[in-house]
Amino acid sequence: MSETNRQWILRARPQGHMRVEDFELKNVPAPTGAVGAGEIRIRNVAFLCAPTMRNWMDPPGNSFYPSVPLGEVMLAPAVGRVVASGDPEYPVGTRVYTISSWQDYASIPTGAGLPLHALPEGLSFLEGIGRYGLNPLTAYFGLLDVGQPRAGETLVVSGAAGSTGSTAAQIGKIKGLRVIGIAGGAAKCAWLRDECGLDATVDYKAEPVEERLAALCPDGIDVFYDNVGGEILQAAVNNMAPFGRIVLCGQIASYDEGRQPEGPRNMMRLIYGSIRMQGFLCGNYADRFDEAVTDLKAWTAAGRIAYREDLHHGFENLPAVFATLFSGANQGTLLVQVADEAEARE
Ligand SMILES: NC(=O)c1ccc[n+]([C@@H]2O[C@H](COP(=O)([O-])OP(=O)(O)OC[C@H]3O[C@@H](n4cnc5c(N)ncnc54)[C@H](OP(=O)(O)O)[C@@H]3O)[C@@H](O)[C@H]2O)c1
Repeated sequence: MSETNRQWILRARPQGHMRVEDFELKNVPAPTGAVGAGEIRIRNVAFLCAPTMRNWMDPPGNSFYPSVPLGEVMLAPAVGRVVASGDPEYPVGTRVYTISSWQDYASIPTGAGLPLHALPEGLSFLEGIGRYGLNPLTAYFGLLDVGQPRAGETLVVSGAAGSTGSTAAQIGKIKGLRVIGIAGGAAKCAWLRDECGLDATVDYKAEPVEERLAALCPDGIDVFYDNVGGEILQAAVNNMAPFGRIVLCGQIASYDEGRQPEGPRNMMRLIYGSIRMQGFLCGNYADRFDEAVTDLKAWTAAGRIAYREDLHHGFENLPAVFATLFSGANQGTLLVQVADEAEARE
C-alpha cells in the first residue's frame, strides 16, 4: 500500500479547452486510521473520464454536481476498494463505484446522495466502470426508456463512435431500427459501419450534417439520441419525423465554451411535429442497473455489441488523457487505471 496520496488539484479554471497546466500534481501523506460514521475511505483503482467533468471545472452555476473549488482535488467517477469503513453496508474490502476524486485515497460520505454502489459479483473493476459501467447503462436507459424506439423506425445518434453513443446505436440495431451515426472522421465512421453494423454514417467534420440527414432520412428521424447539442442538435431538429423523440443525453459541443449551451432554434418545429424532447440522467435508473447489465452481458456474449475501450495507465496521466475527449482523440470508453493489472481485472 502506498504511503503517499497522489492528488491532482484544480489550480485554475480552464478557459476553453482544458489544459494539463490547469492542474497541479501533489504528494501528501496517505490518510490513516479510522473514518467517521457514515463515511468510507476508498483506494481508487480506475477512473472514468466523463465529459461532464469539464462542467465541474467551471465556476458554480452550470452543473448538476458542485463546481470543484480551486485548490481542491478534482472530482471524478471511479471504482475503488473500501480500505476503512464507518458504514456497515460497505465493509472493508467492498468494491464500489462512486463519484470519487483524482487521488489515491478518497473519503466518501455514504449518505450524501452521491452515486455509490457495490460492484456486482462477477464484474471486475474495469468491467464495472467500462463495458458495464456508467456509459453503457446511460445508453441503455436513454434509448430504451426515454427514446421508446420501435422496430422499423429510424434512429440517429450523435457522438456515435463514442462510449455512450456506440452502445445506443448498437442497441438500436438489436431492436430492429435503421441506425445512422454522426461522428468525426472517416475512421470512426468506417468502424461504425463495418464493426457496429450501422446502416449509414455522417462525418460531421467533412459533410453538411443537415443536408446529409435529409438525404438519408427522407421520412424523417423517429428517434434522435443526442450526445453533442449545438448545431448537430439543430440539424436533427430540422429533420425530425412527426411524433419523433429527441433524447438529450449530453451537450459535449458546449462543455468548454464557457457559457451555458444554447437550445435549438425554432421550437415551433417541435410543436408542429408533436415531437418530444427529454433530458435524463443515468442515475434516475439506479434501481434498474441489474436489468441493463443482464441484457448488455447477453448481447456481448452473442457478439452483438462491438466495444472499444481506450485504457490508459498511470495516475500522472489523468489530465492529459481526460483532454482527449474534447479533441476526439479518444477511441471509446476512456479509462485510467491506477492499480496493478491483477487487481483491476479482479
Ligand atoms: N445523461 C447522462 O446521464 C450521461 C451519462 C454519461 C454520459 N453522458 C453524455 O454522453 C456524451 C458522451 O459521453 P462519453 O463519455 O460516451 O464520451 P465519448 O462519446 O466516448 O467521447 C467524447 C466524444 O465526443 C465527441 N466530441 C467532442 N467534442 C465535440 C464537439 N465539439 N462536437 C461534436 N462532437 C464532439 C468526440 O467524438 P468525435 O471524434 O466523433 O467528434 C469525442 O470522442 C457526453 O455528452 C456526456 O456528457 C450523459
